[in-house]
Amino acid sequence: MKNMRTLIKNIKELVGVETAPQLRKQGKEMSVLETIKDAYLMVEDGVIKVYGKMEEFTHSSALTGTSPNLGEELGRVDCEVDAMGRLVIPSFCDSHTHLVYANSREHEFVDKIRGLSYEEIAKRGGGILNSAKATAAASEDELYDMAQQRLEDVMRLGTGAIEIKSGYGLSTESELKLLRVIRRLKENSPLTIKSNFLGAHGIPMEYRGHQEDYVDLVINEMIPKVAAEGLADFIDVFCDQGFFTVEDTARILEAGIKYGMRPKIHANEMAVSGGVQVGVKYGAISVDHLEQMGDAEIECLKGTETMPTILPGCAFFLNLPLSPARKMIEAGLPVAMASDYNPGTSPSNNMQLILSMACIRYRLTPEEAFNATTLNTAYAMGVSDQLGSIAVGKKANFYITKAISSYEYMPYSYGENKVERVFLNGVEV
Ligand code: NIG
Ligand code: FE
Repeated sequence: MKNMRTLIKNIKELVGVETAPQLRKQGKEMSVLETIKDAYLMVEDGVIKVYGKMEEFTHSSALTGTSPNLGEELGRVDCEVDAMGRLVIPSFCDSHTHLVYANSREHEFVDKIRGLSYEEIAKRGGGILNSAKATAAASEDELYDMAQQRLEDVMRLGTGAIEIKSGYGLSTESELKLLRVIRRLKENSPLTIKSNFLGAHGIPMEYRGHQEDYVDLVINEMIPKVAAEGLADFIDVFCDQGFFTVEDTARILEAGIKYGMRPKIHANEMAVSGGVQVGVKYGAISVDHLEQMGDAEIECLKGTETMPTILPGCAFFLNLPLSPARKMIEAGLPVAMASDYNPGTSPSNNMQLILSMACIRYRLTPEEAFNATTLNTAYAMGVSDQLGSIAVGKKANFYITKAISSYEYMPYSYGENKVERVFLNGVEV
């Protein structure tokens, strides 16, 4: 139906409203989270049309006829949803995931408990190579079915947009298979999805000792084929100690840019690796992980278009040092936080938990934490003009909470699902 209108009424608090929408929030701005108490929200054809105080709606609608102009504007409603005194919050945008994978890796988890490090496991052919082996053995349909179920699960937890990387292929054929799965997810899912080509995620065993040959394969064979099928929005590299060097990264990013893929990379997880600098140099939309940050890295991000993105689930799972989020915000930088959902370093799909970790472990206020997981992650996916807040003209992706007392309860009550009803493109899913 054209001009299909849905009204959400009796909202206890409409959270994350933006009257003057910004593409990202940085420094002090991150503590601004506008809300409207006792609100309504009107959606038309999947897009936010108007919102405001509930009393303005009832007083001015055509139903009461007190204000013919606004009444005509708001009067006709095709579908009415009673929020029954619950909160409405913009969906999480999860700007960093490896959601398409074939196998879980709990045996390595146990090895880690017994004392092996992530890098040691990787060196002996586990880790990413373990996932690559299982990916090679799985069919496109099998990978799709598993990923589709995972998407359904993240949607129920309040995520409305998601970036998904390849990177468990590590051969041209398998990387293309993963990216085709992501394309099918894009076509069939109500979530907004962006794809990121991460051929340079690990170094296959047969390239050990001459990894530049693998970098050549990524540049000369994989990137052109990925581009020919239009399979990637972004290009990623795991730029870190024991993985790809700054030089490898520069070469791969240059090649990706030539084919229209914007850099969005893994940097500074294991070491102060130069990853932030190379990302900024090539105009990365985000540099992600950032457990290892010196003052030079913070300085280098100032005044750039690059979103520093922290992955609290990975630091938690691997017991890594915490990225200096407060220091970055106090330096005037924006900060985003995403799940890094993957089987090796962050096997959690739950952005509500990331919201809690933002506050508990990184000392963000709830306002900063919401901005870090909605608007700023939307920016890190290149979609903050359409998503990440409640603003007129943006996609109507939001959730109605369970009966909770305030938005601060969302990060406070960690580990519990507080999302009750999910709306994507204005439609309940
Ligand atoms: O973001 N750091 C690199 N890549 C993933 C981990 C992948 C894996 O171990 O499977 C990450 O943590
Ligand atoms: Fe990652």
